[in-house]
Amino acid sequence: MPLPEGFLSELKMRNDITDVASSYVNLKRRGRNMVGLCPFHGEKTPSFNIYTENGSFYCFGCGVGGDVITFIMKSENLDYIDAVKFLAQRAGMEMPESGFDDSMSLLKKRIYEANREAARFFYSQLYAKVGEIGLNYFRQRGLQEKTIRHFGLGFADDNRFSLCNHLRSKGFKDSEIVTANLAFNSKSGKGIYDRFNNRVMFPIIDLRGNVIAFGGRIMTDEKPKYLNTSDTPVFEKSANLFSLNNAKNTGERTLILCEGYMDVIAVNQAGFQNAVATLGTALTQKQAVLMKRYADEVIICYDADEAGQKATARAIDLLRDAGLTIKVVSIPQGKDPDEFIKSKGSSGAEAFKNVLECSGNDVEYRLSKSKSKYNMKLPESRVAYVNECAGILAELSNPAEREIYASKISGELEISKESVLQLVEKELKRKTGNRRKKEFRTIQTKLSGRDDKVTPDRYKKPRVTSAEEALLAYLLNHPDKLNYITSRIDENKIQTGFYKKLYIYFCERIKNGKDPLNAVSGDFTAEEAARIFQIVNSYSSRIATEQSLQEYIDVINDEFLKLKTKDVANASMEDIQEQLKRIRDSHQ
Ligand code: UTP
Ligand code: MN
Repeated sequence: MPLPEGFLSELKMRNDITDVASSYVNLKRRGRNMVGLCPFHGEKTPSFNIYTENGSFYCFGCGVGGDVITFIMKSENLDYIDAVKFLAQRAGMEMPESGFDDSMSLLKKRIYEANREAARFFYSQLYAKVGEIGLNYFRQRGLQEKTIRHFGLGFADDNRFSLCNHLRSKGFKDSEIVTANLAFNSKSGKGIYDRFNNRVMFPIIDLRGNVIAFGGRIMTDEKPKYLNTSDTPVFEKSANLFSLNNAKNTGERTLILCEGYMDVIAVNQAGFQNAVATLGTALTQKQAVLMKRYADEVIICYDADEAGQKATARAIDLLRDAGLTIKVVSIPQGKDPDEFIKSKGSSGAEAFKNVLECSGNDVEYRLSKSKSKYNMKLPESRVAYVNECAGILAELSNPAEREIYASKISGELEISKESVLQLVEKELKRKTGNRRKKEFRTIQTKLSGRDDKVTPDRYKKPRVTSAEEALLAYLLNHPDKLNYITSRIDENKIQTGFYKKLYIYFCERIKNGKDPLNAVSGDFTAEEAARIFQIVNSYSSRIATEQSLQEYIDVINDEFLKLKTKDVANASMEDIQEQLKRIRDSHQ
């Protein structure tokens, strides 16, 4: 059952999309619309648009679009009903008593509660007799009592039913415990077992303070060293960061990116609350974009080992694409931040502060990485080095920055700055060429429609598809023309599957006096909603006259006739009769 229309219109009226979005995006006015840097993908030039006239948004860079509800779903990582609740609360509105399916929302609520109860239980176990070995482990790793409390660390014992039994006693159903990934079903199907055993526990907390997952570390050399919650309805590993809930509050707009839980905790204990870590996976674009919401600068502080250096290179690319300034720390003696701080004893905090202050930017980091590979005494190595440098500098968009580093390299190698810059120029040309080729290929795939999930059939019929889009946009912008349009275009003439569905849907809503776009974010998938708002907004900016409407209608009719004539060759007599009737009708 859908939400009442009146409630939805009021919700949208009281949550103006520009108001709502401006807490997430810096918006500037451009004509009737607002533009800004897209909060859903990394970019340096704004392609995120808000259309005030119909309360929608669309990003030409990543193709995300929708209404204010979609915006909140994406920004706050909520499903439809929870986003509606979020906006209702924001506007001080009551949710309707019924008329919507909030089973997902209720299930999530139960999982949050189960996780919170589990975190409490693990914490209390840490201080019980059974948890002594866990507490000793943390102490031996240098954690203070207040740090343990601050992070809510805990202990899962080796009894395979402890947590299950505890949660059952608190009223949780087995199915809820399993969906939260706190337990799994036994193979025999007879019961459930705790997921975490004999591990010290790190709760993962989201930005609203919900416990969404756990990491558990084994205290011996057994494997896996860390066991993390798998993805659940409330947890997406690749979209969250450990301790971002703490780090976002420092007001510094700088984040320290570490490799693991213990590093973040050690760095915190040394006085830097702005440390975060990924959750057992390499950094993702989603996490980089999320960091950009709370920071302008990220200090990468990965392990000095080879894996850490590889991860650094990857992180640099992702963070730079998200528009963040980057610094890279190199920790002496091949240690990780936790080991380093601990090795310095009582001056750990001071020593770490120095390391942070000595961090270079990503270009310096990459140049020095490259230099360390070569023996500068050999001429051929020097040539190879300068070529590699040219590649690195060619990625800088700022010419002044390129000049500065070119000077530095020319000094180092005792060659002229001009020859360094010439090499950079050559690299730039090559890169532009490659980029063009890549762009050309993406455009081709887009045009061919082969990667189009919403309208996979569009590439077969580009002419009619465009006319259908234009017709839909016209209908949405001129609902008063409903009868005129439907009298000329029968739904069966719409050849693109999804557009036929839209045509039926919008005609029906307009006929019933409903705002056609009011329920789009609830009635369609995210990709479909994005397409709908893309169509509405790309056509509304053009002034479509009645004459253009006539053209769309003609193209659709014309293409329909072609389709039918083509079929005649293989058609049965009855079919042909039927076609002729339709042709006659459409000519009337
Ligand atoms: P490391 O294995 O590099 O950490 O894992 P470490 O420094 O040697 O060990 P500790 O943490 O100091 O005791 C770094 C991060 O990688 C993920 C975890 O998030 C961990 O914090 N990881 C590692 C896993 O998810 N699973 C594993 O089995 C190992
Ligand atoms: Mn470590």
